[in-house]
Amino acid sequence: MFISMKNKFYITTPIYYVNAKPHIGHAYTTIAADVLARFHKIQGDEVFFLTGTDEHGMKIQKKAEEAGKEPQIFVDEISDEFKNLWEKLNIKYDNFIRTTDENHKKAVTKVLQTLFDKGAIYKGEYEGLYCTGCEQFLNESDLVDGKCPDHGTQPEKIKEESYLLKMTEKQKDLISAIEKDEFQIRPEKYKKEILSFLKNQELKDLSISRKNVKWGIPLPFDPEHTAYVWVDALLNYLTGIGWNGTPLSPPLRRGEGKWGWWPADVQLIGKDILRVHATIWPILLMHSEIPFPKELFVHGHILSGGKKMSKTLGNAISIEEMLEKFGVDGTRYLLLSAGTFGDDVDVTMERLIEKYNADLANGLGNLVSRVIKLAENLDYKIESEYNSVQWNKGFMESIWLDKALGRIWENLIQKSNKYIDDNKPWELKKNDENKFKEVMQKLISDLYLISELLIPFMPENSEKIKKALETKKTGILFQRIK
Ligand code: MSP
Repeated sequence: MFISMKNKFYITTPIYYVNAKPHIGHAYTTIAADVLARFHKIQGDEVFFLTGTDEHGMKIQKKAEEAGKEPQIFVDEISDEFKNLWEKLNIKYDNFIRTTDENHKKAVTKVLQTLFDKGAIYKGEYEGLYCTGCEQFLNESDLVDGKCPDHGTQPEKIKEESYLLKMTEKQKDLISAIEKDEFQIRPEKYKKEILSFLKNQELKDLSISRKNVKWGIPLPFDPEHTAYVWVDALLNYLTGIGWNGTPLSPPLRRGEGKWGWWPADVQLIGKDILRVHATIWPILLMHSEIPFPKELFVHGHILSGGKKMSKTLGNAISIEEMLEKFGVDGTRYLLLSAGTFGDDVDVTMERLIEKYNADLANGLGNLVSRVIKLAENLDYKIESEYNSVQWNKGFMESIWLDKALGRIWENLIQKSNKYIDDNKPWELKKNDENKFKEVMQKLISDLYLISELLIPFMPENSEKIKKALETKKTGILFQRIK
């Protein structure tokens, strides 16, 4: 019997802290993941797209206290804000995991017990400099003027009885797995960065419990302690597909195979959380005898005017403001085309407006309205000479999202607009009907291809373009902004 098995594609975003409202940086990662999930679906893969919120730990405990709210109520509210924003941005995830979900908590408890029973977790004492912003211990060498470079705050000295996870003994194997791409880290520069970090210092065993943090999952073997928030959070990538924490049981039953959806095909993260994802995460998996994800893809940060966005600097661009000005598809497009996916990208409101007008209002919008208007009384075929899945597959599968967009604009949208200018179909219509039909059919075929290629990036407008081709009617797709 022939059983056709679809390719599976499991993609994750980091789960976001609920200490504050979602912002443009969170949107950047999540839109990218949504685009990839949609692309793989169109390609015929069976897709699972996981996102969610990271809800335990000191940082959130403090914020809830400041707000005068019970932590659970506080996290419920902010978690909902993330969900609402994803709905506005047309993000179609398959599961939204919350680390306060009962299933997640149960599974984490089970994993901790297993690791303790096999000796991967042991009792000791830990001393270090803790940054609550990072929810991480920092090395002296990480600090700038005694402060955390990411948060600008002085870390707190902590010395307490704690449970430790064995890290040192896995260091060699980890280095080798990264070198051999058994645990692949892309783009290459981040792989180099993490390898140089791992080769230049010993990974200390990691404190995975806290006595003074009440808002967390209690350790099953010592309930006075709660689990370190990063251990709790990282396991979401398994519990989010239904894993119950039992060793060697598959994370969610899907078709055949021991591991179901796991290993993830792509785990998208920002560069700020690379170290954790390239040390604690794989080592947790090694101790649990679970395979590594196939790929960790790291993107850069969104900056504004060359600086980190901040309220004090007044350079922050809010995602609401973007949505209001540019609409859903405009926002998705502008974020993903803002720069090389992988590097830091710099955005200012001025440049965003400029790009919106150039690429969307004048570029794509103008092309659609010109073609549809010229095609008003014409009989034509709505098809393309190219296969849209193949056309940009290389860039899409390699996650070069900005390049994929750039190629659509340069090779299709700009070229088509120029093709109209060069051929002047409005004149051909009067003088040379055959040539007119030929020129129009080429334009229509390319516009149809454009609409297909844009589905993952601009789900609404790609649909509108198709409708316009069918009905020969179109409104204005992207209104110019002054
Ligand atoms: N909760 C942890 C992740 C746990 S995953 C097991 C965390 N959360 S976070 O809310 O601080 O944000 C995480 C991610 O948001 C970053 O890794 C990145 O993907 C995205 N971004 C946050 N700020 C960003 C920018 N300014 N620019 C681009 N992305 C950024 O860390």
